[in-house]
Amino acid sequence: MVTSSVAPDDPAAARGISRRTQSDIYRAGISGTRPSVPVDPDRLEAAARRALSAEAFAYIAGGAGAEQTMAANRDAFDRWQVWPRPLRDVSERDLGVDFLGIRRPSPLILAPLGVMEMAHADADLAVARAAASTGVPYTLSNQASYPMEETARSAPGGSRLFQLYWSASDELNASLLARAEASGCEAIVVTLDTHLLGWRTRDLDLAYLPFTRGMGIAQYTSDPVFQRLVRERVRMPRAAGAPGVKVTPKAVAAALTIARKGAPLTGGGLRDGLRSPLPRAAVETFLDVFSTPALTWGHLAKAREWTTLPIILKGIVHPDDARHAIDAGVDGLWISNHGGRQIDRSVPTLAVLPEIADIVGGRMPVVFDSGVRGGADVAIALALGATVVALGRPYAYGLGIAGEEGVRDVIRNVLAELDITLGLAGLTSIAELDRSALRPV
Ligand code: GLV
Repeated sequence: MVTSSVAPDDPAAARGISRRTQSDIYRAGISGTRPSVPVDPDRLEAAARRALSAEAFAYIAGGAGAEQTMAANRDAFDRWQVWPRPLRDVSERDLGVDFLGIRRPSPLILAPLGVMEMAHADADLAVARAAASTGVPYTLSNQASYPMEETARSAPGGSRLFQLYWSASDELNASLLARAEASGCEAIVVTLDTHLLGWRTRDLDLAYLPFTRGMGIAQYTSDPVFQRLVRERVRMPRAAGAPGVKVTPKAVAAALTIARKGAPLTGGGLRDGLRSPLPRAAVETFLDVFSTPALTWGHLAKAREWTTLPIILKGIVHPDDARHAIDAGVDGLWISNHGGRQIDRSVPTLAVLPEIADIVGGRMPVVFDSGVRGGADVAIALALGATVVALGRPYAYGLGIAGEEGVRDVIRNVLAELDITLGLAGLTSIAELDRSALRPV
């Protein structure tokens, strides 16, 4: 594993970030060096496609169905333009915002992305270090590749939130939230839109779901409640008629991965993993408990019993659901259509952001994601009412191309473009960024 030090969070670093990034890039260019992580979002994606396996790229880049939601998310940004406003003194600019009661150096956070081991072996550990060194909060995924405690240790001082997929086992939910709180997460983000896994055409065509290979389930295999569920499953008589797997070289490779990933359950190495029924049972148990389509508003109150942390609901798109969430007394809303990964032809999130921001009326933070590719997108979402904006796929691409350094480059590029956009719009702080900065198309 690559180790590197985490620079302390430094608000001044975020302030000066645009100039530093630009001058760094242009100065290196004098010697003929170009950025290894492309700045242009399309070239970034293309470089990640080259760097990643077909399965990894499909899983990260793909969306539901014909990927019309992904296109609609981007199209929604095309409906807004930023007014250039020269001849104002913008020499001092501040990207700081208040979020969850803390002054943050910038309005950017990292969205929860699962199975980052598909992009890089250091996965969440590398992302956490890059996020901490840029002062950007990182939302740990429930489908992470490393347990949350290990990720916390990899970036001490970093700001972390924990994203929960509401499992069919309440005992497991309670255990995950207790661990999140104990390991220093600042809030719980309950994802609401994945009670059924979306129809992911690219993954289906490759017949590849990483969880079935034991990947992206580290939060589960490291959990004492989940470990008990797995042991109970192994003691149960084998279900009659369970489909067998044809033995092929790919099946053998999958068995090896599952055995390796089962180490927290077997307490041993690959040999123990291959001998023990526990790693395979962990995958089956995960597939059983991952989420529950029976979840309703009535269940959400239980989360208050499981944690004292602020609770943010992620996956809010309909204004009525925003009202419902406010009435339910949650602490924040996260407007998201899961980056277009759940429903094809979904409502694009930017289209509903102004209405939901009006409904919320500043009573709680509004996090925004889906379709964000660069700093100008972040500026538009903030102007339309987001408190902070979450970045998703681009940082996974940076991770796949250049590990921790790649994630850091992507974050710095987005922040630099945001800072420059703010200044060229004649503004000196995020608080000044409102709808008057935009022209509807
Ligand atoms: C959830 O883990 C996803 O794949 O979007």
